[in-house]
Amino acid sequence: MRIHVVDHPLVAHKLTTLRDERTDSATFRRLADELVTLLAYEATRDVRTEQVDIRTPVTATTGVRLSYPRPLVVPILRAGLGMLDGMVRLLPTAEIGFLGMVRDHETLKASTYASRMPDDLSGRQVYVVDPMLATGGTLVTAIRELIKRGADDVTAVVLLAAPEGVEVMERELAGAPVTVVTAAIDKNLNEHGYIVPGLGDAGDRMYGTVD
Ligand code: URA
Repeated sequence: MRIHVVDHPLVAHKLTTLRDERTDSATFRRLADELVTLLAYEATRDVRTEQVDIRTPVTATTGVRLSYPRPLVVPILRAGLGMLDGMVRLLPTAEIGFLGMVRDHETLKASTYASRMPDDLSGRQVYVVDPMLATGGTLVTAIRELIKRGADDVTAVVLLAAPEGVEVMERELAGAPVTVVTAAIDKNLNEHGYIVPGLGDAGDRMYGTVD
């Protein structure tokens, strides 16, 4: 597994405002969207392309276009939805699948409550988006499912990661074709499974509290 921390002043600036508890939901959603677009630029560095012959108004030349099958973008509901637009802004022809996953507050174990994805992902590049890589349980479960369906290149785009979650992913997905792109790796996880210093509950910050 490869991990790429995007080191850029605009990323750090937007992340700091996301972390700030005074940032309201509307601003949080807008900034998360902008931040994802910056991360998506790095995350798509190895998106597959093919050569194409074209004519400019001046002459014939060759260029590239995204190859088939198109990449698949998979937001993990609920908070991953807030990252979908930022991702497909750079990949407007991508297909989109959905995975609904919830983490048990006591055990911190992830379970899937909804899944809408192609059965056959053979040869597909997949971008899975989820704001927080905390314990790693959700992403490991999601990525195993994508690889089981045939995906041969999976990039997880997360706003923030905890070292504990990175370690779990490295262990559980050793040797798998997986890259993690994040804006920062924070200090640690606290006893409730929250990233420290983190930004709180990403879903609640985006959409308001549900429980
Ligand atoms: N999920 C969140 O939304 N925040 C955390 O800090 C950890 C998991």
